[in-house]
Amino acid sequence: MRTYKIAAIPGDGIGREVVSAGLEVLQACAARDATFALAVTHFDWGSARYQKTGALMPENGVETLKAYDAILFGAVGAPDVPDHVTLWGLRLAICQSLDQYANVRPTRIFDGIQSPLRGVRPQDIDWVIIRENSEGEYSGQGGRSHRGMDMEVATEVSIFTRAGVERIMRFAFAVARARPRKHLTVVTKSNAQRFGMVLWDEVARQVAADYPDVASDKMLVDAMTARMVLQPASLDTIVATNLHADILSDLAAALTGSIGLAPTANLNPERKFPSMFEPIHGSAFDIAGKGIANPLATFCSAVMLLEHVGEAGAARTLMAAIERAAADPALHTPDLGGRATTRQVTEAVIRFIHGQND
Ligand code: NAI
Ligand code: MG
Repeated sequence: MRTYKIAAIPGDGIGREVVSAGLEVLQACAARDATFALAVTHFDWGSARYQKTGALMPENGVETLKAYDAILFGAVGAPDVPDHVTLWGLRLAICQSLDQYANVRPTRIFDGIQSPLRGVRPQDIDWVIIRENSEGEYSGQGGRSHRGMDMEVATEVSIFTRAGVERIMRFAFAVARARPRKHLTVVTKSNAQRFGMVLWDEVARQVAADYPDVASDKMLVDAMTARMVLQPASLDTIVATNLHADILSDLAAALTGSIGLAPTANLNPERKFPSMFEPIHGSAFDIAGKGIANPLATFCSAVMLLEHVGEAGAARTLMAAIERAAADPALHTPDLGGRATTRQVTEAVIRFIHGQND
C-alpha cells in the first residue's frame, strides 16, 4: 500500500470548514481505490495561534512541512488581525520558503453552473492561469521611514530576476504544450513599467523559441481584463506576474460562476520541497461558521493534490464526483444561488465517489 503524508493546515474562517470536508473526500478516494492511504497530520496554525503566541506558525514550521508529500491549505485571515500579518506570517511564508514558484489555477465552467457572462458556453472558458509565485510585486522588498510624519515614505519594490522569470516561462510553455490548443498568453505591463516588465517580455520571447509548437501572444494586463470578459474563448493558457495573476484569477473565478469553485496548486515543480494545494478564496468572514461555504474549490484542489502525488485514477474519480455535484442544482450552495450546505455537498460527493446514485 502506498502511503502519502499529508499536512493539513485549515487556517481561519471557512478554511477550517472546507479543509475538513476536503480531507473527508480524500479519505473516501483512498478507501474506494484501496491501493493507497493518506496519513494526515493536522496543524492548528493561523490567527487564533497568533493571538495566543504572537506567531501564526512555530519557528520550525517550514522545516516541519518538508517531511510531507503535500500540503492541503484552507485560508488565513481574521477580522482582528491585519491581513498583511496573516498572509506573510503563514501562506506567503510557506510558499516562498518551500520555493513553490509556480501557482497553477485551472479555470473552467462546470456543466450546470451559470456564468455571469451572457451567452457564454462551458467550452468558452477552459483556461489555466499560471501565476509567478516567488517574486515580482510580492517579493517583500521595501520599507517605511518617518512613520506618522508628513514626510512619511513607503516603498514596495517589485523584483524580477532572469532566473525567476525564465523558470515560470518554461513552466507555462510546458503546460501550454501539454494542452490541446498549445496556446499561451503572456500578460505584461511593459508599456508603463520599463524595467522588470520589459525583462519579463524579453525572457518570454527567448523561452518561446524553445517551444516552436506553442503559439503565444502578449497582452497588457488592463486590456487582458476586457479580453477575458469579451473574448473568453480566445484564451487557453495564461502566464502573469504574482500581482497580475492574483487579480486576474479572481475575475476568472467570478466568470466561471463563483470563487467557491476555484482551486489552485502552489507547486515546486522540481519536487525538492512539498507543494501546497488550496482553494483560491479567503477565510470569508461573512459566512464563516454558518456551514454554507462551497467546498468544491477545495475538492478541486484535492484533485490537483492527487494528480501531483501520482494518483491519476483517484483524481479522475474525484473530478467526476465534483462534476456530478456541480450539475445538480439541489447541491448548489448559496454562492451558486442554491440552498445546500457544506455538509450536504460533501456527503453527496462521497456517495458519488463510491458510485452510489442516491
Ligand atoms: P474571500 O475569498 O474570503 O471572500 C470573498 C467573497 O466570496 C465573500 O463574500 C465570501 O463569502 C465569498 N466566498 C469565498 N469563498 C467562498 C466559498 N467557498 N463558498 C461561498 N462563498 C465564498 O475574500 P475576502 O473577503 O477579500 O478576504 C477575507 C479574508 O481572507 C481576508 O483576511 C483576506 O486577507 C483573506 N484571504 C486569504 C487568502 C488565502 O489564505 N489564500 C486568499 C484571499 C483572502
Ligand atoms: Mg487573491
